[in-house]
Amino acid sequence: MAASVGKEVSNKQLILRDYVTGSPKESDMYVETSTIKLEIPSGSKAVLLKNLYLSCDPIMRIRMNRAEDSIFASYIPGSALSGYGVAKVLDSRHPDYKEGDFVWGPAVWEEYSLVEEPNLTKIHHTDVPLSYYTGILGAVGQLVGQFAKLTGCYVVGSAGSQQKVDLLKNKFGFDEAFNYKEEHDLNAALKRYFPNGIDIYFDNVGGKMLDAVLLNMRDHGRIAGCGMTSIYNLDEPEGIKNLMFIIYKRIRMEGFAAIEYYHLYPKFLDHILPYIRESKVVYVEDIAEGLENGAAALLGLFSGRNIGKQVLVVTHE
Ligand SMILES: NC(=O)c1ccc[n+]([C@@H]2O[C@H](COP(=O)([O-])OP(=O)(O)OC[C@H]3O[C@@H](n4cnc5c(N)ncnc54)[C@H](OP(=O)(O)O)[C@@H]3O)[C@@H](O)[C@H]2O)c1
Repeated sequence: MAASVGKEVSNKQLILRDYVTGSPKESDMYVETSTIKLEIPSGSKAVLLKNLYLSCDPIMRIRMNRAEDSIFASYIPGSALSGYGVAKVLDSRHPDYKEGDFVWGPAVWEEYSLVEEPNLTKIHHTDVPLSYYTGILGAVGQLVGQFAKLTGCYVVGSAGSQQKVDLLKNKFGFDEAFNYKEEHDLNAALKRYFPNGIDIYFDNVGGKMLDAVLLNMRDHGRIAGCGMTSIYNLDEPEGIKNLMFIIYKRIRMEGFAAIEYYHLYPKFLDHILPYIRESKVVYVEDIAEGLENGAAALLGLFSGRNIGKQVLVVTHE
């Protein structure tokens, strides 16, 4: 049993102060230190977790809204944020987990968590950094582009700085990349890179980019709707002017949520781990340290401060 089990220890949490409108600020969150007894109540099937790595996800902004009609449960003001993370099992009364296991799954932004009904995935392959498990399911653009290259596509990425453009081209092997902040006419930029049109658009940002892409899709092109970061901070979402092009070009557009595909996770690991081990897929992380820096790390997603998957280290193992 871990040495700390049975003891009362301090437990830092990152708390949401109140619901947020518009762009969130660091002061919308604060760190609070309480205590937790590292003990599992008898009769329960709980696990006791030491949280190691937390995933900073743009969608967490949506959960800061006071929203009755969202599929994402709103955070409760005065309570800790939650999302996904990697943790170590300190103690367990659940038959599926034992002390010392590394797990990933739903996580509260705090140092220690008592989870009454654990729905966590055990990490069996620890020859890749544990922090990767926060993002192998999440850090989308860099992986999607590399997967597309592996299947022989011509891949063009869009990012918000020259440094990121260089990363896309030189580290991730995209054929082309451009800085969307420097393109005053996105339609013209897309025409430059896709004179014959776009077959597949993987949408992480929505808004103006999606609108410009619709004009440039090929007949029967496909759009995967993954995320719309550009509108997460808007009180009134921007309308898409060119939606008619779905009909003109007979485009197929479909949204998806990773949570519906968790059953494929073992298959996905079989697919990606060899690529990572052989460096055929490279994976870049941006690491922030400590819950005190959690708010800044999270908000950095909306100014493009992060380069690669934004991870928050609660503590190193
Ligand atoms: N469907 C699902 O199941 C699922 C699962 C995970 C994530 N997602 C979605 O996938 C997308 C990417 O997620 P991620 O975790 O990989 O995050 P990420 O790409 O690291 O997201 C942050 C980046 O978004 C860019 N950005 C910020 N504001 C923007 C704006 N107004 N317009 C355009 N780009 C902006 C910034 O890069 P620049 O410097 O380039 O601006 C920033 O670095 C998000 O929309 C997320 O919600 C969906």
